Amino acid sequence: MNVDKKPITFMILAVLAILVGTLLTTFIPLFVGTVSPSTEKVIPYKPLELEGRDIYIREGCNNCHTQTVRPLPFETRRYGSYSQLEDSAIDRPHLWGSKRTGPDLARVGRKYPAAWHYLHMKSPQSMFPQSNMPSYAWLADNKLSTRYTEKKMKVLGYPYTAENITALKELTEMDALVAYLVRLGKELKQ
Ligand code: HEC
Repeated sequence: MNVDKKPITFMILAVLAILVGTLLTTFIPLFVGTVSPSTEKVIPYKPLELEGRDIYIREGCNNCHTQTVRPLPFETRRYGSYSQLEDSAIDRPHLWGSKRTGPDLARVGRKYPAAWHYLHMKSPQSMFPQSNMPSYAWLADNKLSTRYTEKKMKVLGYPYTAENITALKELTEMDALVAYLVRLGKELKQ
């Protein structure tokens, strides 16, 4: 039978082939253990880190920074071991990103102490004179809003205590962002 001369049969067979392909490569893996990351190894976000993560999203840091190291030698040599499923298993949404105007930040928490980040966020050019990253100095003047912190912790299922949240009241958005940055790359229990 010459299928390419029978457009309707050809169309039905093509749709079937695509459906089977989609089923095999997209849906079935969702239910197979090997591609479902185990969240047991992951340390959940603390309230301050979670607020910092939301500021990272609000400020669009992910438009210039990725958070995923690809399994390519020139990446692993620069950023460390490639990203595993567990690294972003509890991230809602994930921040893998797709554009690198600046470097990947998946493991930046292992690279600098908090004090470095405070100086760099205030003036990136004070750390790297040729940097084209904008300054975020004003985050240090913004008091952190804790209005939704408890709700967010509950919805995302991270453990917290009421004291954890009241402890944030005197902090700034800069404190939250830096707490988030120094945690990047330290999400797995050793
Ligand atoms: C316009 C693009 C751009 C935006 C937006 C941007 N960055 Fe950057 N970032 C860069 C560039 C370029 C560098 C490399 C030079 C430097 O360190 O300043 C960098 C470097 C960094 C570094 C140091 C990384 C390393 O490995 O040395 C951190 C941390 C960082 N950015 C965090 C942030 C955060 C947090 C935000 C959002 C509040 C942000 N960036 C927004 C471009 C950007």
